[in-house]
Order: sequence, then C-alpha cells, then structure tokens
Amino acid sequence: MPAHFGMIGLGTMGSNLVMNIADHGFEVCGYDRDEKQRKKLQEVAGDRPVTTAATPEEFVAALQTPRIIMLLVPAGKIVDTVIGEITPLLSKGDILIDGGNSHYTDTERRYAALRDSGFHFIGMGVSGGEEGARFGPSLMPGGNKESYELMRSILEAIAAKSDEGACVAYIGNAAAGHYTKMVHNGIEYAMMQLISEVYGILKYGAGVSNERMQQVFAEWNKAELQSFLVEITADIFLKKDDDTGNDLVDMILDKAKQKGTGLWTSQSALELNVPLPTIDSAVTMRYLSALKTERKKAANIYPGHTAEAHPDAEQLIAAARNALYMGFLLAYGQGLQLLTVASAQFNYDINIAEVIRVWKGGCIIRSAMLNDLRKAYTQDPSLSNLILSPVFSESLQKHRGDMVSLLQTAMASGLPAATFAATLSYFDAYCRERLPANLIQAQRDYFGAHTYERIDKEGVFHADWENKAPTVTPPNKDLQE
Ligand code: 6PG
Repeated sequence: MPAHFGMIGLGTMGSNLVMNIADHGFEVCGYDRDEKQRKKLQEVAGDRPVTTAATPEEFVAALQTPRIIMLLVPAGKIVDTVIGEITPLLSKGDILIDGGNSHYTDTERRYAALRDSGFHFIGMGVSGGEEGARFGPSLMPGGNKESYELMRSILEAIAAKSDEGACVAYIGNAAAGHYTKMVHNGIEYAMMQLISEVYGILKYGAGVSNERMQQVFAEWNKAELQSFLVEITADIFLKKDDDTGNDLVDMILDKAKQKGTGLWTSQSALELNVPLPTIDSAVTMRYLSALKTERKKAANIYPGHTAEAHPDAEQLIAAARNALYMGFLLAYGQGLQLLTVASAQFNYDINIAEVIRVWKGGCIIRSAMLNDLRKAYTQDPSLSNLILSPVFSESLQKHRGDMVSLLQTAMASGLPAATFAATLSYFDAYCRERLPANLIQAQRDYFGAHTYERIDKEGVFHADWENKAPTVTPPNKDLQE
C-alpha cells in the first residue's frame, strides 16, 4: 500500500516524527542515505506502518500521489541539495515540507522557485524538541493554503493538543511559518535569559540554594508563571552529576551556545524598525557568556564587584516572580509586534491570535500566559503592542516596582541583569509621551543639516545652530528704524 507521508532525514527529530505519524495510523516511508539510521528506525518502529527506502527512486515510488514529503535535515545548503536531488523524481503538484529551522529568506526563495516549477513548498516551524516530535509538537506551516489542506488531517493528528485543539494552523503565505518559528525562538532566547538572570541574582545576590531554587521554580510553575521553561528549570535543580555527585547545574560551563535563530530575529527586527531589546540583549548575553577567558581576566582586574546588598531572600524571590512575569510578557509582546509588522511587510497574512493558540502546547515557549495574550489579540486583532491592551495594563503597572527592586539588588551587587534592565527601559520608554530624542534631532540638524520637525507646527525645519541668538522676526517692520 502506498505510503501517505514521506520523511527525508531519519535523525532523532525525523525518526520521532515518523513514529508519531505512524502511531496515528498513517503509513510512512522514511529515506536517509545512512543505512544505520534506516535500520534504527525500522527496529524502533516494530510493527507500525513504517517502511524505509534505500534510494530516492525507491522512496518516491513508495508514496501515494500527490506526494507529501517532509525534509528534516540540517538547515542551510543541505536543504537545497536534497530538493535538487528529489524534485526531478517528483510529479507536478507534489508537496515538499521543510521542517527545519530554515532562514525565512531561504524559504521565500525555495517557495518561489518550486512554485515556478509546479511543486508546492511548505516551510514549517516545528517546535518541542525530540520529545515534542515524538508525542506532539507545535507546528507552524506556511506556504500554499491548498497544499496545507491536503496534509491538514495528518498534521492535526500528530500535533500537541491544548484546550483549544491541535497546536497547528495554517500560519500564512510563503515563509510565514518559518518566520513565525524564528520569532518563537527569539522569545525563547529572551525567556531563557530572564530565567537565568533571576537564578544568578537569587544565587549570588541572596545566597538562595539550589534546593530552594528548585522549590521556588516548582511553586512558580503552579501559578501565573506556569510554563515549560519554568517547569524544566525546577527539574534541572534536582539533577545530580554522575561523576561527582554534585548538583549537575553547578558542574556545567557557563558558556551559552546558539544556532542563530535569536540573532535572525534581532536582525529582522532591526531591518523592520521594530524595537525588541529584550530579545536583542538575550542574544548579546549569550555572546558575552562565551567570552569566558576574557571574563576571567577582567574578574581579576575588577574584583570589587562583590555583594553590597544583603536582601531578604524571600522578599527578593517574591519580587523576582513578578519581574519574571513582566519580563516574559514583554518578550512575547515584542516578538508579536515583530510578527505583526513582518506579516504586513511581507504579505504573510498571519493571524496573531491563531499563532498564540498554536504556541499553547508542544512548543518551548508554551505557558499559561498565552491564554491572556490570546484574549488580548482576539479582542483586538489589530493590537500593535500588548502594552496597549487593557488585558495587561493593571499587571504591568503592578509588577513594574518588583522589576525595579530586582534590578536594584542586581546593580548594587554587581550582578548582570542586562535583559531585565533592557526590558524595564523598553517599558518605560514605550510608556513616555516625551523622550529625549528631540536632542538627537537637534544634534543631527546641527552637524548634518538633517532637519527636524516641531511640536507646535507642521513642516520640516533647519536651524542656524552656530548663531545662538534666537532669530526674532520683528512684529511690525514699520516700527523699525
Ligand atoms: C524548538 C527549539 C529548537 C532550537 C533549540 C536550540 O522550538 O524546539 O527552538 O528549534 O533548535 O531551542 O536553539 P539554540 O541552539 O539556538 O539555542
């Protein structure tokens, strides 16, 4: 019987997705050049409806038409190579899905090229890691709506489920799915950095033990901060190191790596003039963490940054909870504003409330807060920034003081809290009617005659800055001598 679905790339993610699809009663054929990977899949698949193919020809022949083929290979050139190898064997109307973390501009290019040669291309964000792939990921497909409809039943079956259904939806045109996944990852970077700053401030600023830290994150996970990242953070503090018996977290080198999706989010936001300093600073702090050797040298030169404040640990924990809530909220808000702007700019036609629904289960940034976010965007689909939504105005106002308290302890103790600081300033700047940017305009006009606008009348003006005296136009020329 011809298979309903084909998978190219049988690494852990690919194999887990194959198993997930097969568990829902669909016949799947997997292809990987590596015989070991094929064998491994066949072994774990047991009597599930899974076959493997040793050549692209065999693979293509095993699939029903129109073929639905997913690529789960590392993002970058390999995707183009695989597309180049497989398309000559396909028929018009077949569908290729790229399930990797591809850059949206690559997806735009592939989408257009494949459409021109008669194929359908779906760029699909897949979130949830290995576990998600196996038992229910969050899926963000973008591209041609008709081809999405052809695979919809399979995707809905395998996706995570929340109280609002399967965590998958047609996200929008062309690269909308991959763009959305990129923004998801930018928010992911921000949330992870905010959590790690809380950890650093509580540990080094108030001497909170790993044991207490575990309890704190576990408690937080029961209320408004309930989220996958807070949940796994609590778990992390329980894990012992096999070699030394110490808490494993203490044995891990403090250099955070990255594959680039956070950077892409910041790059795109800069190009689209969307401010998202929470995400920017989370990316930057990963780079800073990587400068371990330099940090070691600097710590010897500037040893003076020791704790000056000895705050009440429990008070600080309470402030940290609210600060983290506010930080998460503004990270989501910045990401969603970027998505709104990008959707208009690139004609993606993304429904933000639907994206939030898709993020409610299976993905790394899933959290209870998304319920309120969804409410805000459902009430007002044209919401430009969640700060402006009545759904959040009270809690943002209420939690600001706690973010300040957390930052005061951090700053007084020489503990980095770049992402919280950036977030607070973002909020304060966004909420100020008048910023000091008038001075920048004056400087630009001074040295470059770049002109400025005025608060009291329309138009574009240039001043003679060297001449400090005001240019007074006499009220009545006749009165002049
Ligand atoms: C997901 C994740 C995943 C990503 C990792 C690592 O949604 O399942 O976002 O796609 O690859 O989180 O990302 P970095 O290596 O850049 O931290």
